[in-house]
Amino acid sequence: MPAYRPPHIAASEITPRDIYMSRRNFMGAAAAAGLAFAGADSAFAAPLSAKPSAFKLDETLTPKEAVTTYNNFYEFGVNKDDPAANSGDFKPTPWSVKVDGMVGKPKDFGLEELMKMNLEERTYRMRCVEGWSMVIPWIGFPLSAILDQVEPLGSAKYVSFETVVRPEEMPGQKGFFQPLPWPYIEGLRLDEARHPLAILAVGLYGETLPNPNGAPIRLVVPWKYGFKSIKSIVRISLVEKQPETTWKNANAREYGFYSNVNPAVDHPRWSQATEQRIGEGGFFGANRRPTLPFNGYADQVASLYEGLDLKANY
Ligand code: MTE
Repeated sequence: MPAYRPPHIAASEITPRDIYMSRRNFMGAAAAAGLAFAGADSAFAAPLSAKPSAFKLDETLTPKEAVTTYNNFYEFGVNKDDPAANSGDFKPTPWSVKVDGMVGKPKDFGLEELMKMNLEERTYRMRCVEGWSMVIPWIGFPLSAILDQVEPLGSAKYVSFETVVRPEEMPGQKGFFQPLPWPYIEGLRLDEARHPLAILAVGLYGETLPNPNGAPIRLVVPWKYGFKSIKSIVRISLVEKQPETTWKNANAREYGFYSNVNPAVDHPRWSQATEQRIGEGGFFGANRRPTLPFNGYADQVASLYEGLDLKANY
């Protein structure tokens, strides 16, 4: 187990985000990101159409600039503007995702095939464990659609996910300081993975996924803290035992396997009761809104956890 202090930082300890996210600073961040910002926005982002879905929210969308320049993607660096600044050389095509393990029909899904799935636009609330949130119009399809194709065996109880390792294209994966062991790995229980809210996203805001957001394909699990939503996936495996996950391996006391958004369970170093919606103005702290159980998706997902102690299983 790595003995470093995890780089996740309490909301109160870092630069006020609403100041960072003011219009003026956006322009500054975009300019500072320079080349790579262009790379993230133009080189690979192409228009992508999807049918509208019933998954809509009566909440203001987080501006696209914020969604694509304020990111956690440690493969490109640990700062929020690093993914936009450092992902210009990342090549999301060609790509394929291996789906294997305890399945009747293992399969490599080429990106072309994945892009032809029944794509829907779904606007989801996203809550980062650090205390900020966004509202993002994703384009994607239910994860269950590809799980069905590979025919999980009865012995499969969990699903594990793996991000690509490409030090030549991902500067956070090379050099002296590497914040995490690679590949980044995540996991879900099979019933969570099959829940209709869990999607694989291939786009946002009507375009293919920008590099900082996990191009070309990433998981989106809106009732869990953001770190479950693993980016740039190359492998999905059906397994019998609860899989290892990057943040639990880094610090099991602070990051559990479940990671359900829960205002009643504090992170050991900060409260999870409220959140800062990125892009909402005002002095830092003044505008924080209450965090909802399961990030507002309790009606749909709470039944998955009946009988489970959510304080012990954080
Ligand atoms: N996936 C990989 N491969 N590497 C990462 O560092 N960060 C996670 C998650 N997926 C991360 C990742 C965290 S901490 C969050 S909050 C979300 O991605 C952020 O997604 P976004 O940048 O699209 O908002």
